[in-house]
Amino acid sequence: MPGFTDAQPLWTLAERRGMGRRRFLQLLVAGGATAVLAACGADPSGDDRSEHPGWFKNTDPFIRHADGKSLEARLELMDGLITPSSFFFVRNNSVSVDVAAGDWRLSIDGDGVTDPLGLSYDAIRRLPSRTLVSYLECAGNHRAMFDRVQGRAAEGTQWGTGGVGNGEWTGVALGDILELAGVRPDAVSVLLVGLDTGSPEEGFRRVIPVEKAMHPDTLLAYGLNGARLTRDHGYPVRALVPGWVGASNIKWLGRIVVSTEQLWTRNNTTSYVLIGDDYPPEGEALGQPVTTQTVKSALALPWPAELEAGSHRLHGYAHSPDGPIAKVEWREGSGRTWRPASITDPQVQYSWARFEFAWEARPGEHTIMTRATDAAGATQPHSVPFNQKGYLFNQPVPHPIRVS
Ligand code: MTE
Repeated sequence: MPGFTDAQPLWTLAERRGMGRRRFLQLLVAGGATAVLAACGADPSGDDRSEHPGWFKNTDPFIRHADGKSLEARLELMDGLITPSSFFFVRNNSVSVDVAAGDWRLSIDGDGVTDPLGLSYDAIRRLPSRTLVSYLECAGNHRAMFDRVQGRAAEGTQWGTGGVGNGEWTGVALGDILELAGVRPDAVSVLLVGLDTGSPEEGFRRVIPVEKAMHPDTLLAYGLNGARLTRDHGYPVRALVPGWVGASNIKWLGRIVVSTEQLWTRNNTTSYVLIGDDYPPEGEALGQPVTTQTVKSALALPWPAELEAGSHRLHGYAHSPDGPIAKVEWREGSGRTWRPASITDPQVQYSWARFEFAWEARPGEHTIMTRATDAAGATQPHSVPFNQKGYLFNQPVPHPIRVS
């Protein structure tokens, strides 16, 4: 299985918990990394009680960024299509919070609704539910590539390629909740507010347009991968806004404000905005607020990767906000020829695609690039204009691989 020779973080965790190499391998064969985590006493749902003040989940399988707010997934630990909760990246603007579902209420108000209301967790669970597979990606995923590839560092957490995961989400349509509150035909903006600090006055927030809020696939999710949503991912309820940047997917949701005017907050004026010469200011924003993600692909390998000489099947993941991936190509070094990779699993609308290809590794230093194209014809561009905060980097990245 490609990747597990690189499963160093998992083995380090297992060894630290006193597991022998043979048992480690047996567990991997039987149940993959999830089984190893469970045997290490880590909750495979990813809802542990870690000592870290920023998160609940066991942080060993992740790249931990120095800001104390970002756990980057190691794509090389993933082989299937769905990202287990315990390996799903985390991005917090403060820290993960522990909200008791029994005391929790979601309030919906604003001049864009005729019947403001409050809903309990049980009331939300009684509404018609939907389940869909969708990738979720931080707007700053691949940000480090502005520095590594273009030689100009952008501000913010230097994410490599692991600020993304693919989950099976269950919840209610946000549109049903807005209908319950009597959403007015002239409503324009929907502000989603989290309970990060325990209070909806202070929590992380993001505005989405009413059309996206009313889309039947925009969910208030309470389930991830067939289990209860875990605390790091927004328990009891979070927003899932398929195709839109991670910041729109508000966790620990506490309040929804519907407005008949365009709303502006920090997260669509100064943050989550493309700021730079190529992005003229829009409304009250310093540039172009980021909304949807862009088409991207990445190899499921550590950065840099180390492989033994010989035949390998390399794999990775590609995704687009606008539907399925039509093709993925790969190219070695500065060669001009792009070769086709195979897409290995059936794709549902918002899922990422898993791709793979055979590579004959010769000793030495190499780079491999991948490039995805979606069914609408959008492809990864040759170059992405710089923006100050480093969002939406999606040009193909030369992945460094040392072969010995
Ligand atoms: N919601 C709240 N309440 N607080 C946050 O800090 N971070 C956002 C979004 N929702 C955030 C939030 C950002 S920037 C991202 S990328 C996603 O959550 C990450 O979701 P995850 O941690 O479940 O992977």
